[in-house]
Amino acid sequence: MRTRVGIVGGGPAGLLLSHLLHLRGIESVVLEARSREDLESEIRAGVLEHGTTELLMETGVGDRMRREGAVHRSVNLQFDGRRERIDLEGLTGKTITLYGQHEVVKDLVRTRLEAGGEVLFGAKGIELRDLGSEEPKVRFLREGEERELRCDFVVGTDGFHGVSRKSLPDRVSTEYERRYPFGWFGILIEGPPSTEELIYALHERGFALVSTRSPEIQRLYFQCDPNDEAGNWSDDRIWAELHARLDTEDGWTVNEGNIIHKNVVQMRSFVCEPMRYGRLFLAGDAAHIVPPTGAKGMNLAVADVRVLSRGLTEFYASGETELLDGYSETCLRRVWKASRFSWWMTSMLHRFDGDDAFQYRMQVAELDYVTGSRAAATSLAENYVGLPMERGFEAQAKERASAS
Ligand code: DHB
Repeated sequence: MRTRVGIVGGGPAGLLLSHLLHLRGIESVVLEARSREDLESEIRAGVLEHGTTELLMETGVGDRMRREGAVHRSVNLQFDGRRERIDLEGLTGKTITLYGQHEVVKDLVRTRLEAGGEVLFGAKGIELRDLGSEEPKVRFLREGEERELRCDFVVGTDGFHGVSRKSLPDRVSTEYERRYPFGWFGILIEGPPSTEELIYALHERGFALVSTRSPEIQRLYFQCDPNDEAGNWSDDRIWAELHARLDTEDGWTVNEGNIIHKNVVQMRSFVCEPMRYGRLFLAGDAAHIVPPTGAKGMNLAVADVRVLSRGLTEFYASGETELLDGYSETCLRRVWKASRFSWWMTSMLHRFDGDDAFQYRMQVAELDYVTGSRAAATSLAENYVGLPMERGFEAQAKERASAS
């Protein structure tokens, strides 16, 4: 088999890249180890930044998101018995959309298959070869048969545990990591929303988050031991913990519902530099991981493949490699800023083992400042709705100067 771009991993990054390339007339093949059913049912985060929703709309895969997703104009921070609103739209002119990652995946799979795209599910035992050459190869096993895909480029979008990053030769990359001493216990419930907007809560017992998926399905999380298992928590114990961390003295209480899914989310910051070796490009979780606080993971993956699709488009149109050569640096600037934001939100909103009363007071003071100062609230809001996709402050300043 031969294709131009071999994409290893059929999550949002891989599928969206394949879609963007198709719109530019560039052929690709997506290899995914899981079955379509498993891929489409994996429960992940659900906050889409402004730029992510725009890209999905502009490229024709956003219709269902527009219909079924919920636009949120603000989020709440709860601490010290108070709940304060951050007016995202008022501070930035932008909003976010609540729409599950697996719904984005379903929309992308359908769009790719309807356009005749090749998405090969159940591709096992993937190995990457000849990455330093002009014809890298992907070997895999599918339906009992050994296959080889020859490509111009290989893109690794197979997540943190995938083979792509592990295929980099020793010493060509540097990895930066921070592990957090807690996880998130996540539940999906059937029932009406407790609030119209998200609530991020700091409580002495630990962090809690009220989110939503639809008018009928709600998503809630609370800080837990990183080694905890979903089966350790009875429904009653889960509700007691959520009430303890979230209910307020004015009588507001989190709505209970039938729990239909429980999982524990690990928390880690990780960045691999550079995001390229030879003809292999890494994108999304294969290259970087953020803790979930602030929901940046999928949005970063989308930003990566947007940059990469432009580089590949330029290459196939003109043979130029300037954008491809700048891929890693362009993406990493945004990745590090989102890593900083996710680390900051995580640090501000969680209890760390061994934290003393002084530390807790610092966290409350920081939340008080962030919600009370327009400057600080704007800083949170502009990160939350998403920093500009590619242009930095300097490029924007230049544009402003030339416009005036
Ligand atoms: C959700 C996840 C997040 O990490 C977050 O910050 C907000 C919402 C969610 O799954 O709904």
